[in-house]
Amino acid sequence: MSKNALALYHKKVFITGATDGIGKETALMFAKVGATVCIHGRNPKKLAATMQALKDANPRGQFFSYQADFSSLEDVRRMANEFLEDHQSLDILINNAGLYPDNRVITQDGFEQTLQVNYLSAFLLTKTLLPLLEKGNQPHIINMSSIGHKFVWNSIKNPSDSPFFWRWVSYCRSKLLIVAWTIELARQLENSNITVNCLHPGIIRTKVIRILPLSYGSSVPSGAKTVFDLATNPKHAYTTGKYFERYKMTQPAPMALNKKLQKNLWRASHNWAGLMIESEDDEAEQEQA
Ligand SMILES: NC(=O)c1ccc[n+]([C@@H]2O[C@H](COP(=O)([O-])OP(=O)(O)OC[C@H]3O[C@@H](n4cnc5c(N)ncnc54)[C@H](OP(=O)(O)O)[C@@H]3O)[C@@H](O)[C@H]2O)c1
Repeated sequence: MSKNALALYHKKVFITGATDGIGKETALMFAKVGATVCIHGRNPKKLAATMQALKDANPRGQFFSYQADFSSLEDVRRMANEFLEDHQSLDILINNAGLYPDNRVITQDGFEQTLQVNYLSAFLLTKTLLPLLEKGNQPHIINMSSIGHKFVWNSIKNPSDSPFFWRWVSYCRSKLLIVAWTIELARQLENSNITVNCLHPGIIRTKVIRILPLSYGSSVPSGAKTVFDLATNPKHAYTTGKYFERYKMTQPAPMALNKKLQKNLWRASHNWAGLMIESEDDEAEQEQA
């Protein structure tokens, strides 16, 4: 076994949205190298089928499954607390769950569904699991963004306030927020051992791109490989706060680099998720705002 393969054998990874597409394929890749794989899904039947696929891929592997609908913050909180009870540490968190909306849905929490499922739930889950990541071995957070984040502008407000809805814009905005959040989270974690990066995996043939012609895009394993590489390649061990397009570190949209937007998003996200801001710097800035 190579040194890197041996290191992966001892890793524990948690992948959200692991019941289909890129997330499921990434979970299989980690299972095959012997990592402990924790999967999240919203559909119990799909979760059971994915658990079986993981066991088939590695009968000796250690696997855990967690169910939560990311359009409910209560569900995300419950799942995160279950995870905290079950585990002492976490090495890799892959915030992969995402949807491309069919229409405008306002959740019970009062948010436009794409914002909540693609961004806010990942924010809440990550924040809650940080104490476990702090105890991890070279811990990494990977957030799934999209190249689509470059095609929109954003202001920090809950789009449920707006009567206008265009699903492409809604999707891309959620992905822009992910990039801005990734950069701010990296800044907040700069004195810790945790790295956080975000990624566009390519245009991959999954149900997320169902609006495009069937033949368009790359295979699901080719998308999953980009995630697996960013999470495990030793050359990225200390890289943090960066955006990747497939394997290449790339400049994100200028708006994602806007520090004011990042700071405003940080505050708004805590507020939306019902969380307190702990950092003294942020509290000082909050008072000045
Ligand atoms: N495919 C692409 O070309 C592409 C490009 C850029 C970025 N991405 C991003 O890559 C990530 C994975 O997408 P994919 O292409 O693999 O799509 P996918 O096959 O549809 O997988 C999405 C995963 O998210 C889960 N999910 C959706 N809505 C959820 C909800 N309300 N609560 C909890 N889980 C939910 C899905 O659960 P079910 O199995 O129950 O549906 C599934 O496990 C997404 O963040 C996507 O935006 C994809």
